[in-house]
Amino acid sequence: MYYLGIDVGGTTIKGIIIDGSGKISAEDRTETKAGGEAVAKGIASLVGKLLKKLNLSAGDVAGVGIGCPGVIDSARGRVVFAGNLGINDYPLAQEVACLTGMKIKLTNDANAAALGEAKFGAGSAYGDSIFVTLGTGVGGGIIIGGKLFEGGSSAGTEIGHMVIVEGGKSCTCGRRGCWEAYASATALIEATKEAMLSDKNSAMWECGGLEKVTGETPFIYCGRDGSARRVVDEYIGHLACGIVNLANIFRPEAIILGGGVSAQGERLNAPLREILSREIMGGTGYAPVKIVTATLGSRAGAFGAAALFMAEN
Ligand code: BGC
Repeated sequence: MYYLGIDVGGTTIKGIIIDGSGKISAEDRTETKAGGEAVAKGIASLVGKLLKKLNLSAGDVAGVGIGCPGVIDSARGRVVFAGNLGINDYPLAQEVACLTGMKIKLTNDANAAALGEAKFGAGSAYGDSIFVTLGTGVGGGIIIGGKLFEGGSSAGTEIGHMVIVEGGKSCTCGRRGCWEAYASATALIEATKEAMLSDKNSAMWECGGLEKVTGETPFIYCGRDGSARRVVDEYIGHLACGIVNLANIFRPEAIILGGGVSAQGERLNAPLREILSREIMGGTGYAPVKIVTATLGSRAGAFGAAALFMAEN
């Protein structure tokens, strides 16, 4: 039996087909277009492409698991609200089922990624872990005692919308000062562009101009450029603030970083560990909290979505 997983991101929709052991048989991606209908159509055409690659028909696959950003009503397969995708109350599972004729399960994208890591990646070593994704938004998946904790009506664990600066930058959720407005890849790119504009001599201009800036840009130049260094330091400070908050509230065994920015690995994890050990309540001697990078990389969400159709999920 095959399992098909879809991860809806702010810029791309990724899809994979895996077998029961987690071996990838096919994968592909398509660009994300905003709005419920556009997302449903994007998913359906990606599903079609993936099946075609392996010459499979719908019946060869247990179903299509979808991870989608936002508040998700997983029991009814609805996206209640996804600010970054411009979706307000949309029956995504039902629409994709109509377009593909397949069984659909829907969950939050970060919850899917947490499940993926717990089953096939970095999270498998821990009973209690928090997955933090740093991409277009900041998302979270909380695993307690080996089980995903989704909050009431599967609408909780929106860690990116924890305020770290009261009255701070505005967020797509409508609130101000959310962690996401400072720690997402989107926020990092924005801060990098601002730093370049206010320093015409910054080495960061070597990247090829403002439109070539990615979340990696300030990390590439921070060794020899003061403006890049400041962007990285401020970013890590904001990221650490939310991480220490989560560590104090849940005291997980590990915090697993995923999403685009997590590709920085130890350049990110080492300073985060240092701040965490300095600021966490009571120090790290008792109940230490590890900071690690997701081992499934950008595939964590698609893996977890596919696993929604595996027996124990
Ligand atoms: C959304 C979350 C999502 C995260 C990452 C946030 O803006 O509110 O539901 O998990 O972005 O995509």
